[in-house]
Parts: sequence; structure tokens; C-alpha cells
Amino acid sequence: MRAIAIENLKGGVGKTVTTISLAHILTETYGKKVLVVDCDGQCNLTRFYLGEVPDTVTLAEVLTGDHEPYWLDNVIEVKPGLQLLPASQELYRLDLAALRRGASGLTALRDFLEAVAEDGGADVVLFDCPPGFTAASTAALMAAGEIIVPVLMDGFSVEGMADMLIQVSSMREVNPALRVAGVLINQWHRCPAVEQGEQLLRSMPLPVFRQTIRRTDKVPESTFLKAAVVDYSVTSAASRDYRLLCQEIFGEVEA
Ligand SMILES: Nc1ncnc2c1ncn2[C@@H]1O[C@H](COP(=O)(O)OP(=O)(O)OP(=O)(O)O)[C@@H](O)[C@H]1O
Ligand SMILES: [Mg+2]
Repeated sequence: MRAIAIENLKGGVGKTVTTISLAHILTETYGKKVLVVDCDGQCNLTRFYLGEVPDTVTLAEVLTGDHEPYWLDNVIEVKPGLQLLPASQELYRLDLAALRRGASGLTALRDFLEAVAEDGGADVVLFDCPPGFTAASTAALMAAGEIIVPVLMDGFSVEGMADMLIQVSSMREVNPALRVAGVLINQWHRCPAVEQGEQLLRSMPLPVFRQTIRRTDKVPESTFLKAAVVDYSVTSAASRDYRLLCQEIFGEVEA
């Protein structure tokens, strides 16, 4: 089971759209079982699938140990092969220090994933992380084996990569297996600033995915309709890019 955190300290870089796109390609094209975990108090992923925050167990209860004993009772099947562990605004109230003191604390999500893996419940787990450094994103980085870092090509984002790498190396003290699968250039379009930014990023000592995701109006359109762009506009540039990215990360679809 691969557990991948989609993470960047910066907001609005495409973490949630990337989570949804990968999840849908993996279930629909690759026939994989996927668990998506909404780690963000904004609840974008949760509302995308459910319309509203459910009155059931969410990630906050998993982190505080107030969840059901059997993992499957805590998740919601949102489409065939795709399970969601929802978020709630309770995540904003979770205090890192309190979690550290608590019995379950930051490793609760890791324990949860171990139960999923033992049951063969998912082939891939994707954590949609919030912007910034929160209790939930820390828990996700404790449980993940890999990180995908979506970025936009502007000076602040490229500079922010250094902070991201510091965060990852500090997480390695508690999760030595954690590695950066790659930085993902999102909203790529042909203009000097973007092309120069790409060049600068690719000269830095960090893995950058060969595949970029092009800027496409179909993406914001699809979020209004609560549809994955890869389903809403199969032939759009972003959809084609996400399918190629999936090949880069997970290999060719098996026949
Ligand atoms: N390839 C793309 N082309 C055009 N617009 C895009 C693309 N990818 C994402 N967007 C738009 O960028 C915005 C941010 O995307 P998204 O919500 O996925 O980012 P995020 O990193 O999850 O944000 P947050 O940090 O608030 O959770 C959305 O309005 C989305 O429609
Ligand atoms: Mg998001």
C-alpha cells in the first residue's frame, strides 16, 4: 500500500484538485482501491464528495482516538473503489500540544493505516493536506511514505520550497521512510515567468516530476460542478497531464 501526502505549506497550489484527479484515475483506469483522507479544516475534499460535512466520524475523531474500532466503520464509500475519511472544522480546534500529550496523538493516523493495510483495504492512500503546518498535516506526514508537492511557478512558491524541505527533513526524525516523490508544477502555461521558474526549480537539488499540469479553465469549472476534471473534461489539457503524471508515479496501467 502506498501512502502519499499531497502537501505544500502554501495555499491554493492544487493539492485538492491533484488528490481528486489521482484518486479518480487510479480507481477508474487502474482499478485500484483508494482511500482519500481530508486533512484540511476547510473540508474542500469532504464537501466535494458529500456536499456537506457529515455527522459521522471524521479525521478529528481518529486523531483524538474517539473513532470506531474497525477502520471501515469510519470511512465513507464515495464511488466504487474510493473511500473517504472526511474532515470537519474540528480539525481547527485540535491543538498540536494536546495531541502530543494524548494517548493516541500523532501516530493515530499511522495506526489507522496499518489496520487498512492489514485488511488489504486500499492500494493507495492519498492525504489532502491543508496549507500550513497543522496537527492533521503532521499526522499525515507521520503516516505517509511519500510526498507530492504541487507548486505554482512564482517567486514566492519556488522560495517556499526550502521551507518545505526543512519540514520534510524534520519529519524524517520521526518517520525515516518519508521521501519526496516529486514536486509537481501546476497551472503551467507558456510565459517567460513560468518557464524561468521551471528552469530554476529543475536546477534545485530536489526531485521534480517530468510531467507538469497545464492551466485549464476546465479545472475551476469542474470544481463548481463537483466533478473531477478528469471525468468532466476527459480531453482537457489538465486531464491528459494528470493521466501522464499517474503513469510517471504508478507506472503504466496493467493490461
Ligand atoms: N491546472 C489548473 N488549471 C487552472 N486552475 C487550476 C488548476 N489546478 C487548480 N486550479 C484552481 O486553483 C485553485 C486552487 O486549487 P486547489 O483547491 O486544488 O488548491 P489547494 O492547494 O488544495 O488549496 P488550499 O491550500 O486552499 O487547500 C482552485 O480554484 C482550482 O480550480
Ligand atoms: Mg485544498
